[in-house]
Amino acid sequence: MSNYAEIQALAPAAEPERQYYFIEVCRRKVQEESRRLGRPLTFCVTTFGCQMNARDSEKLAGILEQAGYQPAEAETADFIIYNTCTVRENANLKVYGHLGLLKHRKKERPGLRIALCGCMMQEPEVIEKLKKSYRFVDLIFGTHNIFKFAELLAESLECGGQIIDIWKGTDQIVEDLPVERKYSFKSGVNIMFGCNNFCSYCIVPYVRGRERSRRPEDILKEIRTLAADGVTEIMLLGQNVNSYGKTLEEPLSFAELLKKVEEIEGIRRIRFMTSHPKDLSDELIEAMKASKKICRHLHLPLQSGSTRILKAMNRRYTKEQYLELAGKIRREIPDISLTTDIIVGFPGETEEDFLDTLDVVRQVRYDNAYTFIYSKRTGTPAAAMEDQVPPEVTKDRFDRLLALVQEQAKEQTARFAGTVQEVLAEEVNDHKPGYLTGRMSNNLLVHFPGDASRIGEYLTVRLEECKGFYYMGTVITSS
Ligand code: SAH
Ligand code: SF4
Ligand code: F3S
Repeated sequence: MSNYAEIQALAPAAEPERQYYFIEVCRRKVQEESRRLGRPLTFCVTTFGCQMNARDSEKLAGILEQAGYQPAEAETADFIIYNTCTVRENANLKVYGHLGLLKHRKKERPGLRIALCGCMMQEPEVIEKLKKSYRFVDLIFGTHNIFKFAELLAESLECGGQIIDIWKGTDQIVEDLPVERKYSFKSGVNIMFGCNNFCSYCIVPYVRGRERSRRPEDILKEIRTLAADGVTEIMLLGQNVNSYGKTLEEPLSFAELLKKVEEIEGIRRIRFMTSHPKDLSDELIEAMKASKKICRHLHLPLQSGSTRILKAMNRRYTKEQYLELAGKIRREIPDISLTTDIIVGFPGETEEDFLDTLDVVRQVRYDNAYTFIYSKRTGTPAAAMEDQVPPEVTKDRFDRLLALVQEQAKEQTARFAGTVQEVLAEEVNDHKPGYLTGRMSNNLLVHFPGDASRIGEYLTVRLEECKGFYYMGTVITSS
């Protein structure tokens, strides 16, 4: 039996014990290598994509730190891992760009280890390309087996060579693996994985698999542990949080989950991402209205304002239904900040369709909107649609939309001028020495004089001057 076969034979079958066993295997190997080099080994995790990927990266970092690696910048790290995104072509191209640079670095430093994981790895064409032209990448795995990172890393450290392990799907949710948070005072918390909506342009359901909700008791336990560790703000994460709990053995609605989270002592702010308009219930609006902890911010992706395009996108709401919903939310919770995502240039989009999008933007008056040029994703129904919009037409529409969105976001931001807000001090301001940056409940940022010792504190700040999309302010009191 080879050394690694013996190690494998002794591994416990149950999770997460199995992964903790492999973390120890990695630890021994890292120590050995560290002793040989006379210095600690270092790692760097680079994340692309959404909040869910960011949370996954914290889990990767947690495992690497327990295995004895120390954090470092990408330029010097001994182990580099890219957690990739493939929602738009751009995200994909960035990864290949980085890999091009790493190829040279690895020639100079053969000890450098490179790993790739995340959504892009779930695409068979990507794996073919990596196998053929990127042989220097040591470890490649996907979204479904990320919980096995320690095991895969152990195999890579023990056996070398290129290891590729991609699963087609999973129904497993492994709890209680180590996590290394980026911020001490706030954290994302996964409440569900995957997506069942199959919006016709979107690759996420193919690369993240079917929707699975975590059990409420596991979510609540994690949040209690985070609160005990000093976390006061949490963001509940899922591709469509409004359909949380539907597939659980004992179904529980998202609003009911929020109420349970609200009861946890120590948690002062609750955020969540993302809400699909089709599943946003009155019960949720009521829960938000009644809550003292749920932040005054709702991200409600529109995608398009044209009912015809929304149908082709498989979004399952009309322009009128969306407007009614947004109106109801603004009426019920007047101080709420509404943000959105919009795609321009979906196949078949006419000038008239686009004018519908502008019309919705005008009526809703978003506090902020993320605008995207439609990107064709192989394997999605929209990729096969006729009438792809010419790039110059899309670009023109994109510029017009962006101008409107920015004008409105400025006006919306300005409406809080002169008010006093509770702000969570998040980080030192990079641009202005002696200043901190804090976030209000409605997700707006404010910069104010303060020193690093206040990071993580809730402060009362007067918003003195609106600078377009953010504020300059002064601290009145700390709470
Ligand atoms: N689950 C979230 C969105 C996740 S993807 C939701 O349904 O709202 C984040 C955003 O990327 C989407 O809201 C959409 O606006 C954008 N997006 C997704 N696929 C895209 C594509 N093929 N081209 C351009 N933008 C896309
Ligand atoms: Fe993609 Fe639609 Fe699922 Fe969001 S809800 S992840 S846009 S398929
Ligand atoms: Fe990208 Fe995957 Fe998130 S494709 S947007 S990282 S779910």
